[in-house]
Amino acid sequence: MVVISLGGSIVCGYEINSDYIKKFRNFLEEYSTHHKIFVVVGGGETARKYINVGKSLGFDEYLLDEIGIMATRLNGSLLLGKYSYPRVAKNILEAIIASSMYPVVVCGGTEPGHTTDGVALLLAERAGEKKMINITSVGGVYTKDPNKFPDARLIEKLSYEDAEKMFVERKMTAGLNLPFDLISLKIAERSNIVIYIIGPDIENLKKVINNESFKGTVIGNAHL
Ligand code: UTP
Repeated sequence: MVVISLGGSIVCGYEINSDYIKKFRNFLEEYSTHHKIFVVVGGGETARKYINVGKSLGFDEYLLDEIGIMATRLNGSLLLGKYSYPRVAKNILEAIIASSMYPVVVCGGTEPGHTTDGVALLLAERAGEKKMINITSVGGVYTKDPNKFPDARLIEKLSYEDAEKMFVERKMTAGLNLPFDLISLKIAERSNIVIYIIGPDIENLKKVINNESFKGTVIGNAHL
């Protein structure tokens, strides 16, 4: 089984990334012949644009989250295909049930209060999978923001504890975008699910699935 959280900004940044979507669909088609795949798609710029306008209109956080969820489902719909359950699954149990009939199940957000990384981890938890692959545009956890500092180094391994510390420290210094959130980290930790943070490269993704050496960051317990 393969559980993937696909960052929304990869599917839809300033524009919809149709080239990448085609490549990812090819990957799904190819790997669905011998793997069960769950792919949870994020909201990207679509979510951000709508949420920002909602904020300026004074919408409450719950409604903003619901708007974000709609964006994730819109993005997710572009990954549906002959290989998949024919609609974007709306909750964890629907996804689990659908996976007994289809090799690929596409999900977006489920309910307010967390992100699609959280959904992917809850899915892994419920499906008994110990690995979650998080595809982000940054491609891992770095010592500093790699877009601003050329000397930023990729951190290859992190314990849950170190990742949590990093999250709190960086949150306080603001501006540095870690490619995961604290709620997701807590779900991973309570069920010992190892998080693999990688970039969009599909060949690198295949390496993670095939347990080969890859470029990215692994977050798990200390003696990983
Ligand atoms: P994302 O998962 O894309 O959030 O969901 P994000 O943190 O912006 O993702 P990346 O890592 O930068 O790609 C978009 C928004 O949808 C809502 C949240 O408001 C989230 O910020 N959402 C998503 C939920 O409320 N519940 C969910 O299950 C998923």
